[in-house]
Amino acid sequence: MNVEIANYNKIEYQKAGKFEEARYEKIHNVIFKSSVEASTVVAQEIASLIREKASLNQTCVLGLATGSSPIKVYEELVRMHKEEGLSFANVITFNLDEYFPMEKTNIQSYFYFMHEHLFNHVDILPENINIPNGSLESEDIYQYCIDYEMKIKAAGGLDFQLLGIGRTGHIGFNEPGSHLNSGTRLITLDHLTRVDAAPAFLGVDNVPRKAVTMGIGTVREAKRIVLLGWGLNKAEILKKTIEGKVTSDVPATYLQQHNNTTFVIDSEASSELTRIKTPWLVTSCIWSEKLKLKAVVWLSELLNKPILKLTDKDYNDNGMSGLLAEEGASYNLNIKMFNKLQHTITGWPGGKPNADDSNRPERAHPSKKRVLIFSPHPDDDVISMGGTFDRLVEQGHEVHVAYQTSGNIAVSDEEALKFAEISKELNPNSEKINDIIDFIQAKKGNDIVDSIPVRKLKGSIRKSESLAAIRYLGLKDENVHFLNLPFYETGTIKKGKITQSDIAITCNLIDTIKPNQIYAAGDLADPHGTHKVCLDILFIAIGSLKNNLYMNDCWVWLYRGAWHEWESYEIDMAVPMSPDQVLRKRHAIFYHQSQKDGVMFQGGDSREFWVRVEDRNRLTAKKYNDLGLADYAAIEAFKRYHF
Ligand code: F6R
Repeated sequence: MNVEIANYNKIEYQKAGKFEEARYEKIHNVIFKSSVEASTVVAQEIASLIREKASLNQTCVLGLATGSSPIKVYEELVRMHKEEGLSFANVITFNLDEYFPMEKTNIQSYFYFMHEHLFNHVDILPENINIPNGSLESEDIYQYCIDYEMKIKAAGGLDFQLLGIGRTGHIGFNEPGSHLNSGTRLITLDHLTRVDAAPAFLGVDNVPRKAVTMGIGTVREAKRIVLLGWGLNKAEILKKTIEGKVTSDVPATYLQQHNNTTFVIDSEASSELTRIKTPWLVTSCIWSEKLKLKAVVWLSELLNKPILKLTDKDYNDNGMSGLLAEEGASYNLNIKMFNKLQHTITGWPGGKPNADDSNRPERAHPSKKRVLIFSPHPDDDVISMGGTFDRLVEQGHEVHVAYQTSGNIAVSDEEALKFAEISKELNPNSEKINDIIDFIQAKKGNDIVDSIPVRKLKGSIRKSESLAAIRYLGLKDENVHFLNLPFYETGTIKKGKITQSDIAITCNLIDTIKPNQIYAAGDLADPHGTHKVCLDILFIAIGSLKNNLYMNDCWVWLYRGAWHEWESYEIDMAVPMSPDQVLRKRHAIFYHQSQKDGVMFQGGDSREFWVRVEDRNRLTAKKYNDLGLADYAAIEAFKRYHF
């Protein structure tokens, strides 16, 4: 390590998280199991600083960030204010950035965000709050930015700076190309940053192109910096930032030169770090069976060689001599790992009746299983496991599907208007339909929340699309369950908190069906996204039901959402699809017409869902084939969740 960390901070974080002085790493970082746990520790550091300063009769100057990363930190600070008397009376804040142009009253503004998440709930003096102004006249910006810098200096400089990180490597809105000594200024947002902000603006076209941001120089002057990073989406940029060389291409790498910075990250966000991804390159390992498989798959992919062709020399040359010593010879290890992968493959996702199942991913008994597929949105089932779904129905299992949310947010106004106008043709005098049409036609800004009837119409559109898809797969309507979980029904991108009623609805369904198999979306890319919330609800429900006898007989399989796939070494069940099944799956996805032709929440990948998913299933099959296994057209992958 070439940085010196204040002892207090280092020890506090190490007590709570996992920290190792690691080769390759140039920034002190601590890994936590979950972002909730991590946020609590960060909030504690901020609270201690505020209290310490208050005891000395000093002000505490905080640099604050917005976005999804700091939300839980603010939540915890608000809790401490309400329950533990933490006062913000001595706190002065400077926010990092604001979109431009942007009115304070707009719900997408960072001004709104900060008040909603923190300032409205604590005793900070309004005159101590500083957030860059997004509604200046262009000619006033230059002077305004100089004044913002001066104001920070006049307050005594930043005692503590909280940061998130963008996938471009930005901190604040200092996009690639930003200079080490840059100050507060107007910048142009990177396209990727705008794509990532698109959901909050209901489409990338509505995201402002510019922002006012503190500079790298401003941030670097803070006495203490903590950067938060959650979820798989941040894993790649965090590796570059922590392990790469300092470069303006990844502005966050400038933090390598700051002597009191800690990155606080969760386990998904840490997954690309060398010490996590390939620990054998960093240290001597304790070789669990899982780690062995991970290492052998990695070596095979690195050398472009099927597993059965890896030699002793290959292992020795790539940091795995310890593993080889433990296993005796590459020959034995290769066969063992090859068989492990081979045994994940099955055309019988519900188990093969009357077959020896000792080397199969699923049990043979009961031969007819009750299967419950949880789908966060009304199309995740067919997108992520359409082929397996088809197989399960065809192989005679009692398949149920539960749509956890209505998915209404993702239906565009144009699509809703089309259906409203058709309804009007049939019911020319319906007041309700006329109201819906009037509402949609009058809607201008993207910060207007849909009326309840419009939301209902949008939900119904998705409902009928999913019914069409499951009928095509041969499922009866009575086996479909629309849960409409309440946490989702806010009418906005920002969802409500999980409540008892979300959990009760989920528990009831499981308790009624008493499934032998549950399938669910194990999506970890976005820790605040709907998929993750749905998964959290399901895990809580399973946790509370697990002492019921029928749960002893229930296996849980996780599929990944539309964006990622499990790594080959993580897969516990691989279900191959024939070319014909790939086409059937495509057809089932086509029923979700409101999600075709450029959906509202496209993400960074402009391909349609069916194209993306076909590529992904083909790639999984190719990876298996490259490892030396049979050559399939496509594979859907699942990981077992042990509760
Ligand atoms: C926000 C900011 C940005 C975000 C970054 C990550 O004030 O300055 O740098 O921290 O874009 O955003 P989230 O946390 O939403 O992933």
